[in-house]
Amino acid sequence: MNTFRVMAIVLIGVVILGVVYLATQYFSSEETRVVPRNPLYLDSTAEIDERVNDLLSYMTLEEKVGQMALVEKNSVQTLSDISRFGLGALLSGFGGKPEDNSIVGWRQMVGDFMAESKQSRLRIPILYGVDAIHGHSNVPGFTVFPHSIGLGATGDAGLVQEIAHATGEQVKATGINWSYSPTYDMPQDIRWGRVYETFSDDPELVGRLGSAYIAGLQGQNADANERIEVLATPKHFVGAGSMLWNTSSNENFRIDQGVTPKDLQRLKAEYLPPYQQAIEAGALSMMVGLNSWGETKIAANSYLIRTVLKDELGFTGFVVSDWYGVYEISDDDYDSAVTAINAGVDMVMLPFDYKDFVRNIQRAVRTGDIKMHRVDDAVTRILRAKFALGLFDDASVQEPEPTDFEAHAALARKAVAQSAVLLKNDSNLLPIRAEAKTILVAGSAADNIGQQAGAWTVEWQGIDGNWLPGATSILAGIQTVSGPATKIVYRADAQFNTLEQKADIGIAVVGEKPYAEGWGDKQTPRLSEADTQTISRLQAISKKVVVVLVTGRPLIITDQVDGWDALMVVWLPGSEGAGVADVLFGKAAFTGTLPLPWPASISQLPIVTDGTTRDRSTVLYERYFGLP
Ligand code: BGC
Repeated sequence: MNTFRVMAIVLIGVVILGVVYLATQYFSSEETRVVPRNPLYLDSTAEIDERVNDLLSYMTLEEKVGQMALVEKNSVQTLSDISRFGLGALLSGFGGKPEDNSIVGWRQMVGDFMAESKQSRLRIPILYGVDAIHGHSNVPGFTVFPHSIGLGATGDAGLVQEIAHATGEQVKATGINWSYSPTYDMPQDIRWGRVYETFSDDPELVGRLGSAYIAGLQGQNADANERIEVLATPKHFVGAGSMLWNTSSNENFRIDQGVTPKDLQRLKAEYLPPYQQAIEAGALSMMVGLNSWGETKIAANSYLIRTVLKDELGFTGFVVSDWYGVYEISDDDYDSAVTAINAGVDMVMLPFDYKDFVRNIQRAVRTGDIKMHRVDDAVTRILRAKFALGLFDDASVQEPEPTDFEAHAALARKAVAQSAVLLKNDSNLLPIRAEAKTILVAGSAADNIGQQAGAWTVEWQGIDGNWLPGATSILAGIQTVSGPATKIVYRADAQFNTLEQKADIGIAVVGEKPYAEGWGDKQTPRLSEADTQTISRLQAISKKVVVVLVTGRPLIITDQVDGWDALMVVWLPGSEGAGVADVLFGKAAFTGTLPLPWPASISQLPIVTDGTTRDRSTVLYERYFGLP
């Protein structure tokens, strides 16, 4: 063999070895660092950041990427995938309940998922998330508190903190450690289907109640090393509520998932201050919205997430994306996921295909499309929340602490009374006096617990009708609170044919049927024809009529309100309808005020945060209006 051939063979050999080496680097995991018998990260007395760094130092790329995945529980293909992929978190999308939808069923289901996560090499527990947005309303029989718009009407931070704390207790009783609440959106257009999920359009009120909620749910103050009870998630960062009509990226919706005008000055003056307060209150996770800021979906906007939220506001928790939102960034799944992670999203609510996500992110790190330090940063933030929850320190999911459902129902009833806003009260008709001997009650929402609870109650879109165990309808509340000397007669449609003379008072309990998200985007929110007829019938056979609006948002009533003697709005009060009766009959005083302006017509929309309207004509009622 001549020298030339030998050299050629050697060269080919070197090339082959090189290719094999590179291929193994590309496709295999890096070396795993052996975990000592008692690693620092399992020492509950060590500082959280030390524990995080220690754990991170043992993690492979696969293990890190797994932590960044948030999967809807019905999409987990086999239970062992949780430990095999080291998934960071699971969720019940609303309505994603266990077969046995009870406290026992939830504990069993979440407990099984949790136990499986602890089978992974590093025994990292999962986060399990639900939308406990007005109590843990996933579970029939649990207290359904008023939707946030009602809490905004109370303006009472102490009350909101108590409610959030009670909610946290009920969430924990089902083995869950994470809630996608509170909502920081600020609605400027009542046509949006999510107005009732918000506290107000006023940044000051949103910031104040939001911080109280976080403190209540997490059960702590803002000390970085203090243990939290249930992880709160302010949402939806940022600008959600100010999307313009007809800009939705979803063909079924009009305004939800739409475009927030790109206005940096407004962003800094209005949208950011509440989030700054949320960070100070100890928020450790935050959800980015499905809206766009100008052309760009928020989840793809590195300026808003990395520069503004993380660098400028100093947020050290993790950013989670909203339902499938990352995959709306582009048509290509790889590009979408890479763009979102590089923009600063730390955990992706996939919520479906985790295998594809894990593959793509690993590939992106290996090719340099995502830098390793970005992944480390994301995982650090996620682990920080897990340590703060004490998840590594519990031997197993503990027995539920006894939950005082009776006390929570009393709290909810008080909140309902405080959230009622009196808008009109001719001749001081309210509170109803003892002389009123015959009262007629009518309307679609009078005896309809599903309607008064609204959506996000057991089912995502809610359930119209009387079905929630243990709850009290507004009618039942009126029957109890009015006392034995008053005769209450009820007919939903007000066809009281047998009455001989006019009743002293008619109470029309009318309003919106349940809806959630973009399915509630409505060109003109107003009373239905049937409700309007019910009010007219009631007027014909009653000396005076009180209209009680059960609604998630202001309705356009300008042409009707003059004909009504008294008007109050009770929003979506939840399971404790007796709170409405308390204010009707003077057992509680009217203290609620409107948390947002009440437009006189659709042409005034959007109404911007400083309370002015687009055409500057007068609204029907100003923000913070409410008669005593
Ligand atoms: C909503 C979020 C919610 C998530 C999980 C999405 O459709 O926009 O607010 O937290 O679902 O249920």
